[in-house]
Amino acid sequence: MQNFDVRQAYLDYFKSKGHEVIESAPLVPNDATLLFTNAGMVPFKSIFTGEVPRPTPPIRTSCQTCIRAGGKHNDLDNVGYTARHHTFFEMLGNFSFGEYFKKDAIAYAWEFVTQVLKLPKDRLYVTVHESDDEAYGMWQEHIAKERIYKFGDKDNFWQMGDTGPCGPCSEIFYDQGAEHFNSDEDYMGGDGDRFLEIWNLVFMQFERSADGKLTTLPKPSIDTGMGLERVTAIKEGKFSNYDSSLFMPYINEVAKLCGKPYEYATGASYRVISDHIRSVTFLLAQGVNFDKEGRGYVLRRILRRAVRHGYLLGIKKPFMYKLVDKVCELMGGHYAYLNEKKEAVKEQIKLEEERFFATIASGLELFNDELTRTKDIFSGEVAFKLYDTFGFPLDLTADMLRDKNLKVDEAKFDELMSEQKARAKAAWKGSGDKSAKGDFKELLEEFGENEFIGYEALDSQSKILAILDEDFKRTNSLKAGENGWVMFDKTPFYAQSGGQCGDSGEITGKAQILDTQKFHGLNLSSVKANVELKTGDEVSVKVSSERSEIARHHSATHILHSALRKVLGTHIAQAGSSVEADKLRFDFSHPKALTSEELARIEAFVQNAIVKGEAAKTQIMDIEDAKNSGAIALFGEKYADKVRVLSFGEVSKELCGGTHVHNLNEIGAFFITKESGVSAGVRRIEAVCSKAALNLAKNLHAELDEIKTELKSIEPIIAIKKLKTEIKSLKDELKNAGSSKAINLSDINGVKVCVEILESGDIKTAIDEIKNANERTAVLFMQVKDDKVAIAAGVKNASIKAGEWVKMTAQILGGNGGGKDDFATAGGKDTSKIQDATKAALEFAKEKLI
Ligand code: SER
Repeated sequence: MQNFDVRQAYLDYFKSKGHEVIESAPLVPNDATLLFTNAGMVPFKSIFTGEVPRPTPPIRTSCQTCIRAGGKHNDLDNVGYTARHHTFFEMLGNFSFGEYFKKDAIAYAWEFVTQVLKLPKDRLYVTVHESDDEAYGMWQEHIAKERIYKFGDKDNFWQMGDTGPCGPCSEIFYDQGAEHFNSDEDYMGGDGDRFLEIWNLVFMQFERSADGKLTTLPKPSIDTGMGLERVTAIKEGKFSNYDSSLFMPYINEVAKLCGKPYEYATGASYRVISDHIRSVTFLLAQGVNFDKEGRGYVLRRILRRAVRHGYLLGIKKPFMYKLVDKVCELMGGHYAYLNEKKEAVKEQIKLEEERFFATIASGLELFNDELTRTKDIFSGEVAFKLYDTFGFPLDLTADMLRDKNLKVDEAKFDELMSEQKARAKAAWKGSGDKSAKGDFKELLEEFGENEFIGYEALDSQSKILAILDEDFKRTNSLKAGENGWVMFDKTPFYAQSGGQCGDSGEITGKAQILDTQKFHGLNLSSVKANVELKTGDEVSVKVSSERSEIARHHSATHILHSALRKVLGTHIAQAGSSVEADKLRFDFSHPKALTSEELARIEAFVQNAIVKGEAAKTQIMDIEDAKNSGAIALFGEKYADKVRVLSFGEVSKELCGGTHVHNLNEIGAFFITKESGVSAGVRRIEAVCSKAALNLAKNLHAELDEIKTELKSIEPIIAIKKLKTEIKSLKDELKNAGSSKAINLSDINGVKVCVEILESGDIKTAIDEIKNANERTAVLFMQVKDDKVAIAAGVKNASIKAGEWVKMTAQILGGNGGGKDDFATAGGKDTSKIQDATKAALEFAKEKLI
């Protein structure tokens, strides 16, 4: 273990300077512009930009877990091949939201580095932005001018992503000593490893918007970031992060798994694995799942890249999951949730490894085959096939080409990928907003979004603001018999969203409402006019009575979600749902099929919640407050700043815009009807409640009555068991009837001989019975089954070899076989020759015995 805990020392130091210590935020940020939390400042972005008020105290410190494996800051390709790149790392930081600025940030950093870390001053250098004379001057209070370098935007301007807070920065470098480094790049500002950047102090002054423009932040602020892994390595006197106590334990495990000792020069694969296991474990423990796209796909790429490196080391079966224990051992002390999720994480990794190991050998074969044909650029078609058929992510193929100095034809790959995407159906969308071409913009400009009043009202007096035809073109009227879309000023009809189907109903006396959908925020109802409908009509509208059944199924879905988390664990994340008047469907991440015991517990949880009853409570809250209050939000879903939170006491609390029961009692009954798999790692539960559940019970009763009538019994189970016993004994009788049928045994020189075709019964049993009953015997039976002839012969104390006998017989029947002298079996194909075979078999016996 480390003898100096850098993480603790950092947090303690800044706490002593009045900073509030903040826990690491999730790796998946609440920020649609980022794939992952890639720096310590990400959770504080909106404080920097002034969107939310400054906290008290306005200075904070944290150790933030980060992932740089996608998006603007992507280090994936370098991991394993350099001394300091990681996909997952911990960033120590101190933040000032308009409180202190450059002078104090520099003074704190210098004090920490020289007094707490006690790094020798003659090894330290700093850099500033070429335009930042202020910082240049301030640093000179601490360090000689010759040790301060000025660089341009590339080195000394930091920004979070393409948009967001940014500013010039100043970096502290540690010189690891000329004696160990001799590349041409080993100078301050070069790409070599000698001068190690250990701390970045960002002087946050601007916010970059999507059009690239910089606006000044409300108050100049400070964001600093120090890589825990680098500083730990320096403190331990190691030149590579991977040689430090944060990574060597994994490397040693990998060496054990592959049975080959680790050497730095040839050890890239060991390093890739020990980096990647940390990312994979943390992401899974935080609820990200392996997926075909988005963050889940980055996770898959990281794991598969590690698996391929294991394969290179000769490990040919799942192994990554075995390293999870080490991650928990080393990091579970600070990140306790790792220990809670340990077993589920191991299982998920193992399953994903099994999926990849099933195709890796064939994929590598295809890859190597193509390699022999490759001169400069590796084929984009083959790279796509590797991706599509064998599950090799593009960067894995690129990684395999790396040491051969070859590149993939990425343009072709991208082209094939977009073609495939265009073919793929649109994915499930929680927001429900449909995209279609039509006059929506015009409607939005003229009327804005229309009001949904259907949480309270199921009917209303509404005005038809606008009418669209079936192609979403504006029109003034729909004639009797015509179909189209209607926009009401206020509408009780719920537009399909969040899995809940759209409402149907009627415009009293004028039209049927077939469905309701959302288009670009507009709530539009699909109608079939019975009489002419005109823009401006004041009408009375009514939601179909199905709505209450839909509400019951929707509320039951929430309770089912809670039940799943209770019974299976909190790794469960919703992956889609569908709520209708007579059924519900809920998809969720879980690595394997549910057992009947688990299903029974889940069903009972929901049923108990219904019986106990709990009133619904809805609140409109800020998204952050809602999440902090424990409300379940959909992973990856973009929410508005204000959200609707629906809770049923302690049983369930979710962000949801749907319509629900007032009390869980109203759901009445609930039954799970089916559990199945949707895709790797995603399961589906189908269920019914309320009227549909009663109908199910009613139908089951009717079926049971029919079964009782058929069985002529009021106790069908007992009757079925009795029938099964009877069937078995009849079968046995039949078998015996075949074998014990009167067999003609002729006597040839004291040997009981028999050659016959048996129509039923088991021929081997029949032979055994004759052998048991006679001292000297030779029997050969044939039986026709499925157009083939089965032959068996048994011999006891007689000069016939059963093997030869069946072989000779089988040959006549166009087949073959053989066996031992006392028992042999064979098979024939030509059933038409069976009489010839019988005769020949008898002749054979006579010849041998006479
Ligand atoms: N945001 C800066 C970085 O990531 C400093 O924390 O380097």
